[in-house]
Amino acid sequence: MNITVLGTGYVGLVSGVCLAQVGHNVLCLDLNERTVKSLNAGHPHIYEEGLDEMLKSVIQSGRFKASLVNDENIMSNDVFMIAVGTPSKEGRIDLGQIEAASKAIAQVIKKKNNRVTVLVKSTVVPGTTDTFVRNILIDQSGKAPSEFGLGMNPEFLREGNAIRDFMEPDRVVLGFEDQQTLEILESIYRPWKVDKIRCNTRTAEMIKYANNFFLALQISAANEVANLCYNIGNIDPLNVIKGVISDKRWSPIEDSQKRYVPEITTYLTPGCGFGGSCFPKDVEAIRTLQQEVGLVPRMAQAVLDVNKEQPSMVVTGLKQVLGSLKGIKVLVLGLAFKPDTDDIRESAGIKIAKELISVGAQVSCHDPVAAANIQKNEPELATILIDDWISGLEQADVIVIATKWKDYSILQSKQLTPKIREKVIFDCRRMLNAESFPESKYLSIGCNFK
Ligand code: UGA
Repeated sequence: MNITVLGTGYVGLVSGVCLAQVGHNVLCLDLNERTVKSLNAGHPHIYEEGLDEMLKSVIQSGRFKASLVNDENIMSNDVFMIAVGTPSKEGRIDLGQIEAASKAIAQVIKKKNNRVTVLVKSTVVPGTTDTFVRNILIDQSGKAPSEFGLGMNPEFLREGNAIRDFMEPDRVVLGFEDQQTLEILESIYRPWKVDKIRCNTRTAEMIKYANNFFLALQISAANEVANLCYNIGNIDPLNVIKGVISDKRWSPIEDSQKRYVPEITTYLTPGCGFGGSCFPKDVEAIRTLQQEVGLVPRMAQAVLDVNKEQPSMVVTGLKQVLGSLKGIKVLVLGLAFKPDTDDIRESAGIKIAKELISVGAQVSCHDPVAAANIQKNEPELATILIDDWISGLEQADVIVIATKWKDYSILQSKQLTPKIREKVIFDCRRMLNAESFPESKYLSIGCNFK
């Protein structure tokens, strides 16, 4: 199948490259000339494990091409996937890019005799495809709704794991408004032998939001339990969570008496809050949508409130142990919103570093991959970035681990013990073993041992 993907962000580029990998011919369109050039040269403009190699391979096979959005290129295929950004603007989903993409495709519908199919892949609130997008396509093309196909096919990939998530999905959601679109979706996803959920476009949109909402809800619930543990004292919230997930409804015991621990339980680790481009904006969008339809967004509001406060638990915990943080030298390790990505959007590490600065601490920061993005977007932190975090340990009084990068696990090695002796280690992500630090003060979210 020949598919044009609009947008080359995490979702658009990964989808385009993976669809080409399974044999489709993909044209990815973007507005940025530099991005297009770099993609055609085989260099992705985003960091994603495995993407570099796969991009080179699909370019070589002739099945992938990137191009600028212009009249000639946009006319070449009949199937369009909209994978542009849907950022949050004052808590509401900003459909500006969806609008521009829909208008561009409407011109194709207007000029072409062939039936054009439009598939929305971007995360959009329920009703967007069958109202907002459909109306633009009708208004701008002058054609009747029956003259073009309309579908919604959400993506569930996680940054840092995006290629694997796309190639080995848990399920594929095929949202469609007409039978021909369903058939097109079926042929696009024929290579994937997984559960396929066939539904209307609103249901498909809602599945995506509900999925992220439930995950974010778990994180905030675990963090609220951790905060309660902290205030009571002498309770390790990680042990509490272990006790909870040992319930066989969370982790079933199979015939062989072996316990199966589903991945969902990894969203229950007490921590300094969720970030990234999805959970915060999607829960905000759900909250706004609830308000718009006259509902009170109790749960969504609570998830956001807990998450907003969570990075501050680091300063609270440090103050309890050290008193004032004025002049205290703190090394913050990890500024990406999670490991294996260079994405710093809504990163808890950044919030922690800024709050530490605001209370007078002398902060330095490190991230193995996101440093370039910090230089570009975070002037306050750019000047305190360090390259060699291991040397930085010596100068620091406190070491805060905000992102679970594998590199930082060597803090547990014996050879680093002299560098961190008698220092405070604040492990926000519970990635290290407390017993590895007999000569340091080990702290983490929710732990308050007197
Ligand atoms: C999330 C979903 O997991 C994907 O299924 C979805 O496709 C994607 O959003 C999207 O909507 O596009 P992503 O934002 O890449 O993916 O990251 P996750 O790995 O789910 O982590 C999100 C955040 O939750 C990170 O900041 C992480 O540190 C945080 N988190 C995760 C916690 O704070 N605690 C946990 O126990 C687990």
